[in-house]
Amino acid sequence: MSGFVVWRSAQQDRVEQALSSWVAADVPAGLGLAMRYAVLDGGKRLRPLLVLAAGEAVQGDGAAALRAACAVELIHAYSLVHDDMPCMDNDVLRRGKPTVHVRFGEAQALLAGDALQALAFELLVPDDGSMPPALSAALCRQLALAAGATGMAGGQAVDLASVGLSLDQAALEAMHRLKTGALLQASVMMGAATAQVQAGVTRELSAYGASLGLAFQVVDDILDVTTDSTTLGKTAGKDAANDKPTFVSLMGLQNAQAYADALLDQAHAALNRSGLAHTDTLHALADWVGRRTS
Ligand code: IPE
Ligand code: IPE
Ligand code: MG
Ligand code: MG
Ligand code: MG
Repeated sequence: MSGFVVWRSAQQDRVEQALSSWVAADVPAGLGLAMRYAVLDGGKRLRPLLVLAAGEAVQGDGAAALRAACAVELIHAYSLVHDDMPCMDNDVLRRGKPTVHVRFGEAQALLAGDALQALAFELLVPDDGSMPPALSAALCRQLALAAGATGMAGGQAVDLASVGLSLDQAALEAMHRLKTGALLQASVMMGAATAQVQAGVTRELSAYGASLGLAFQVVDDILDVTTDSTTLGKTAGKDAANDKPTFVSLMGLQNAQAYADALLDQAHAALNRSGLAHTDTLHALADWVGRRTS
C-alpha cells in the first residue's frame, strides 16, 4: 500500500471515531439516531481529509484541525440529507443505504439536517479552553460563508432554479463553485487557518482548493453517467432524469473529463507555487479526486 493510502485510511478511522463520540445518540425523540445514521459509517471523508492534510502542510494545531475536519463533514452530511429529500433531488439511496427521509421520515430528515448544521458550529467552539477564541471565530466564519447563501445553500438554490435550462459554461461553473466548490475550498482554508501562514501561502492554497473543488463536481457529473448505482452508493443517472444541466450535458463526456484533468493540473500547480515543504498528501488528494469511482 502506498503511503497515501495508509494515511488516508488512518485519518478516515480517526474522523469516524471522533464523529461517533461527538454525535450523540441520546437526544430527544430518536433525532440522534437519524443524525448518526446520516453521518457515520459511510462516505469518502474527502472534506475532513483536506482539512487534515492542509493542517499538516502548514504544521498547524492538530486538535483544532480534527474539530474543523468533523465540522465540515457535519455540514456536508446535512447537505446530503436535504439534497436527497423529495423537494430537492428525491433520491432513495445514499452511501449505499436508504436515504435518511426514507428510513426516518421527511420531518426527522429535515430536523437531523438542521441539528447536524448546528452541531458543526458547536464543535468549533469547545467549552474546555482547547481552542483559542480567535481561531474558533475564524473557523466559524469560514464555515458559515461556505455553507450559507454565499456557498453551498446558494448553489443548491441555483441548481434547483436551473432544472430544464441549458446553462452556458460560465453559469454552470458559477453554480458548481458555490454548491460544491465552496465547502471543499473552505476545508483547505480551515486546515490552513490552524497555523499562522504568509499571505502568499494562503493565496495558493485557496487557488488549490478552488480548482480541486470545481474539478470534484465535474467528476461527480461524469460519474453520474458512467458508473452504476452499486459502485456509486447513490442512484446513477439522476441528473438526466431530473433534467439538471451538468458539465456532461454541456460539453460531452470526453471534454468534461479533459476539463476536470485541466482543473486538477491547476490545483497541482498552485501547490507547487505555495513553497510549502509538505504538500505530498494534498497532491495525492487531488489525484484521488480525478480517479475516484464513487
Ligand atoms: C457528494 O459528495 C455530493 C457532492 C457534493 C457532489 P461526495 O462524493 O463527497 O459524497 P460522500 O461524502 O463520499 O458520500
Ligand atoms: C449536491 O450535488 C451538492 C450538495 C451540496 C449536496 P448533487 O445533487 O449532484 O450530489 P449527489 O450527486 O446527489 O451526491
Ligand atoms: Mg442536488
Ligand atoms: Mg443530488
Ligand atoms: Mg451529482
